[in-house]
Amino acid sequence: MLMRMKTKKTLILETDASGFSAAGEIIRRGGLVVFPTETVYGLGANAFDAAACAKIFEAKGRPQDNPLIVHTAQVFSLARLASVIETRAAALIKAFMPGPITLILPKTQDIPAAVTAGLPTVGLRVPSDSAAQQFLQAAGVPVAAPSANVSGRPSPTTFDMARAAMDGRADAIIRGGDSRVGLESTIVRITEGGLEILRPGGVSEEDIRAAIRGCPVYGAGSLCPGDTPPAPGMKYTHYKPQAEVVLFQGGKWNPRIAGAGGKTGVLTLTEKHAAFPRNFLVREMPSLEEYARRLYAEFFLFDSLGCERIFAEYPPEEGLGRAVANRLLKASGGNFFHR
Ligand code: TXA
Ligand code: MG
Repeated sequence: MLMRMKTKKTLILETDASGFSAAGEIIRRGGLVVFPTETVYGLGANAFDAAACAKIFEAKGRPQDNPLIVHTAQVFSLARLASVIETRAAALIKAFMPGPITLILPKTQDIPAAVTAGLPTVGLRVPSDSAAQQFLQAAGVPVAAPSANVSGRPSPTTFDMARAAMDGRADAIIRGGDSRVGLESTIVRITEGGLEILRPGGVSEEDIRAAIRGCPVYGAGSLCPGDTPPAPGMKYTHYKPQAEVVLFQGGKWNPRIAGAGGKTGVLTLTEKHAAFPRNFLVREMPSLEEYARRLYAEFFLFDSLGCERIFAEYPPEEGLGRAVANRLLKASGGNFFHR
């Protein structure tokens, strides 16, 4: 895939009035700004400017048929972007926005085809993170943004990761904090047959079922009967660190693995440090929330230490565990040590 060389002079902007105002100016002039959100850092451009949005694909090396999510600071701005907001969409908006959720809705003509890869629908998101809010307000236009990683790699959840990925490719990077959720937003599509979760994230399937009673909810991976393919992005490999990722299940850790050579990292939720060989670099995850929050940053750390392999514990597939499990399956290509 063709990828733009890292040639741009990238400004680092602080999360203060002058930083946000400079970022807004760059967006309105058709440039690219990396900004923090509660899920992951995004690589943003003016969503009404097709030429600016085209630069996102170039900077990321992103396939042209993979549509972008459009971000706004306020819920009421969605009315200009979605041509129809029916009852179930309105209920999801009321329950979860601002927050880590993206709704796929029919688009208005204001959104160029470059953003949606020609689809009649658009992904809409209102982030809750305060720096994201201030940036979007300063921009004054909706901002189209994918995660700020080079295509296929893990999304940045810290400023250092965002800079490592996008220095030389974006016009500016906002120096935000660490992402609170740490995994990309939950993507929900609304169809006649019910709600489909195209990508699990910070808003769980259980949360959605509780908010929208009496409407079928199809989890990630299952499709409504008679439905067309889900998120175009789902066919691409994702979230892969440089190291090979191998999954294991809690309680089934096999000490024989110690025979494996090379620098090895471990992410464990239920096994203790002492269960692993002393030469392994073991990171205990104190909770599922922390596992989600730190997953990509831990991948980044292991890569920067030159690890060849990462053993990662596969969490229970419920609540936030579904989102962590989903990213681990993609990062590992479904490579389980047991099973
Ligand atoms: O948390 C997030 O969602 C982050 C932050 C920056 O907001 N963004 C993000 O964007 O993860 P990206 O581009 O990495 O992932 C967006 C996913 C892709 O898999 C894409 O195919 C899907 O959303 N998508 C976008 N528009 C769609 C549409 N109209 N219909 C179906 N899927 C869509
Ligand atoms: Mg992405």
